[in-house]
Amino acid sequence: MKALILSGGKGTRLYPITYTSAKQLVPVANRPVLFRAIDAIVEAGITDIGIVVGDTAAEIEAAVGDGSAWGATIEYIEQEAPLGLAHAVLISENFLRDDRFVMFLGDNVLEGGIADLVRQFSDSEWNSQIVLTRVPDPQHFGVAELRNGQVVRLIEKPKDPPSDLALVGIYMFDAHIFEAAKSIKPSWRGELEITDAIQYLVDHGYKVFPYVHEGWWIDTGKKKDMLDCNRLLLENMTSQNLGTVDEKSNLSGRVIIERGAKIINSTIRGPAIIGENSRIVDAYVGPYTAIYHDVLVENSEVEHCIVLENSKIVGIGARIEDSLIGRNVEITRSQLRPKAYRMTIGDNSQIGIL
Ligand code: DAU
Repeated sequence: MKALILSGGKGTRLYPITYTSAKQLVPVANRPVLFRAIDAIVEAGITDIGIVVGDTAAEIEAAVGDGSAWGATIEYIEQEAPLGLAHAVLISENFLRDDRFVMFLGDNVLEGGIADLVRQFSDSEWNSQIVLTRVPDPQHFGVAELRNGQVVRLIEKPKDPPSDLALVGIYMFDAHIFEAAKSIKPSWRGELEITDAIQYLVDHGYKVFPYVHEGWWIDTGKKKDMLDCNRLLLENMTSQNLGTVDEKSNLSGRVIIERGAKIINSTIRGPAIIGENSRIVDAYVGPYTAIYHDVLVENSEVEHCIVLENSKIVGIGARIEDSLIGRNVEITRSQLRPKAYRMTIGDNSQIGIL
């Protein structure tokens, strides 16, 4: 089997972080979401991988490379614009040929990986396997209607959902999907929807198997989803210390300290991860926090946050919570007079001041 990862798109729901970088490269629990997708595919025994890329192609190729870091081969497939998930399949026909394949949306994270799913599908006669999970807000996803365990209808982001079974962004297909994707028309949002292509398979008598996933699943499109995903992953990690912790510091719960990180006179309450060469000085880092590489947190308190590389949080009087802080950000206390807030902030940023 082959794998196709979709990593194009604009990431508008994660602005301003995604003005300067691909949403699939934002780390959760200190590993980019896209790397986690590749991990899951390789773990399922698939090493022939195509990645569909758009505007952020250069950055994605620089981060992922040729796949040798995973023992895989990776081919990049350029999509001129985000014209839909079924469009991404169509432009990948030369890469996929007649092989059965798994399509993995590059911003999805699924508990437990996909090894069992891939095994089931490759041993089966099905033309497609879809993954469904129960969600409280099905109107935000593709939704499936089942009857006697069979798929009868699939609708993309319905106003009036027929069930609470959302389509997870992991799909398995054989080559009939090309016929389906060529036959459908763009939706109201101007995209060739994979949901409509699967409906075509159902309507034309092809076998589409619905697998209902019981663990957690996160589509990391928005800040809240990133923080939730970060929390769920951190809860399952094992404590490790590859850095240095001085005797005045106090660590409790699951805490991972990566290579070169320094914890000085600080309290870290896990689950939390401190990235390579970061420094936590006279500070508090609370549960569900991921501090990425080369960050300084000094004389400040941070909890339930993701902080990206090279940022500095120094001398902040109140705790910073529920926040996604980008790269090279400085949050510091100003000594200047007149006493005033001074900021350089990108478009679509959100700041809550006490
Ligand atoms: O996450 C699950 C949902 O994913 C499903 O429930 C929906 O049925 C499915 O349509 C899709 O919905 P989204 O609106 O969340 O898809 P999004 O536009 O966020 O794109 C998903 C990924 O695919 C993202 O990593 C960007 C990439 N992509 C997207 C489009 C539209 C491409 O590479 N090319 C594209 O043309």
